[in-house]
Amino acid sequence: MADVDANQGRPSGPRAAARRALVSLLMERGEIRDPRVLRAVAEVPRERFVPEALGPSAYCDVALPIDCAQTISQPYVVALMTQLVGAGPGRRILEVGTGSGYQAAVLAATGAEVFSVEIIEELAQRAAERLGSLHYKVHSRQGDGRQGWPEEAPFDGIVVTAAPRQVPASLVAQLAPGGRLVVPVGGAGEQELWRLTRVGDGPEISWERITAVRFVPLTGQVGASFMADAGSGTMRHGLDRDRRSGAAPGARHRQ
Ligand SMILES: C[S@@+](CC[C@H](N)C(=O)[O-])C[C@H]1O[C@@H](n2cnc3c(N)ncnc32)[C@H](O)[C@@H]1O
Repeated sequence: MADVDANQGRPSGPRAAARRALVSLLMERGEIRDPRVLRAVAEVPRERFVPEALGPSAYCDVALPIDCAQTISQPYVVALMTQLVGAGPGRRILEVGTGSGYQAAVLAATGAEVFSVEIIEELAQRAAERLGSLHYKVHSRQGDGRQGWPEEAPFDGIVVTAAPRQVPASLVAQLAPGGRLVVPVGGAGEQELWRLTRVGDGPEISWERITAVRFVPLTGQVGASFMADAGSGTMRHGLDRDRRSGAAPGARHRQ
């Protein structure tokens, strides 16, 4: 993988110190504990995923603008979603919303096999080139990620990096037994990050609310939604486990 000293297994390259400082910051917050995730963040050269002019800000823990009026997510949220989805060796993970390719690279750096779909052709193409030049093995394609990637399903995990108003049923349907779907849900000003888990190999799905976030909207063709299919009203009515441990009430992680 990119920028890792093969002998020491430690991140190398011009911004390695900045990456290590970012990892220390994430560790201090106390929520990102999976060593695979911390190693992945320490390894992936975020400066290669942001516009050149923003290189000096690449290791600030903030979302930054990229081309086509989109954003690269905040490193903390990327790490959190990578941890929540359970990325690691042998896991097949689908990402919806490739954007710059950074989240896909972090997922791949955990050892997961990554599939990523981006709806904007220009972004999909650039991210594929970038990921290839950095030697991250990510299967990527342009398309409407609301439909998932049926030919490659089922997935052990699905990460959605743009917010639908309701969870697309097609994504839930592509979860393997025990598979996890991490998805921000809501409108422009009010979104919550959710994790849905397929319980066993049957149709049962459990869900938990994680924290308040703010992502760009998931575009594309709106189809059946998970909760509408389940006849349970909105996600909010299904709440019973609020794990908003890190965020101050009302705080939002901007993406
Ligand atoms: C917050 S950005 C993603 C950041 C990205 N994961 C990264 O690491 O840079 C959200 C992305 O989702 C894409 N998107 C929005 N709706 C989509 C859809 N229906 N299918 C696939 N991608 C979509 C946007 O074009 C945008 O690139």
